[in-house]
Amino acid sequence: MFWNVYARSYDNLAKHFRPYQDLVQEVCDHVDEYADGRSLRILDAGCGTGNYSLELARRGHTVVGVDNSESMLERARKKSSGVENVAFIEHNLTQPLPFGDGEFDAAVSTMVLYALPDPGSALEELRRTTREGGELTLVTSAATSTVWVSLKGIMRTGDFTSSLKTIVALVPVGILNLLIDLSHAKGTYAVSTTEQLRTHLAATRWCVLDEMSAYVEDTALLVIAEAV
Ligand SMILES: C[S@@+](CC[C@H](N)C(=O)[O-])C[C@H]1O[C@@H](n2cnc3c(N)ncnc32)[C@H](O)[C@@H]1O
Repeated sequence: MFWNVYARSYDNLAKHFRPYQDLVQEVCDHVDEYADGRSLRILDAGCGTGNYSLELARRGHTVVGVDNSESMLERARKKSSGVENVAFIEHNLTQPLPFGDGEFDAAVSTMVLYALPDPGSALEELRRTTREGGELTLVTSAATSTVWVSLKGIMRTGDFTSSLKTIVALVPVGILNLLIDLSHAKGTYAVSTTEQLRTHLAATRWCVLDEMSAYVEDTALLVIAEAV
């Protein structure tokens, strides 16, 4: 329900929020670095409105995006009309993935893991469906206060008029992110620290190759891991 409501304004991030646009490029650049010129089969777990899936498809990869929000998927499908190397499937990541072992060369999952009640089992499924030696690029929120720092970031990077326009366009997104921040602060989410994430990855045969801060004011953690 929450994500179906969020779907109505989610793409305002892609249209108006520079850190979101930069993160899409950063994640896809990491995937391309791993691909080294090959065209990969990639799973985008919790694909939302398909921004990462579509960028990866644009770069020549074949992508399957899964998400359990009908409204997010509806938008993703609309945006991908005519694009042949991307497909969107409704799937709840609390359930086993509807794919065979090692079917994918790589997986991406951005800003999803924290929202899952059992991130370990989702990572286990991502591992099962990624071939050995395949790569996972994962981004998850690492801060309990993203809205306030985003506001400060917007004010700092633009002139007054452009900052105001961006803030107005992002009001609905900001309100929904406040709810996410509150849940983080209350400890509702199963993954909200780097240590928790590392523990889940190690337990599910993902070997962390690199780890870096990302997104607006370093409020997220970007991890590259290899399927071992
Ligand atoms: C913050 S959005 C991120 C979307 C996309 N990865 C991006 O970064 O643009 C979180 C997404 O996770 C999806 N999600 C949350 N819980 C899920 C679950 N149990 N199964 C599948 N998708 C889920 C939501 O529907 C939503 O599209």
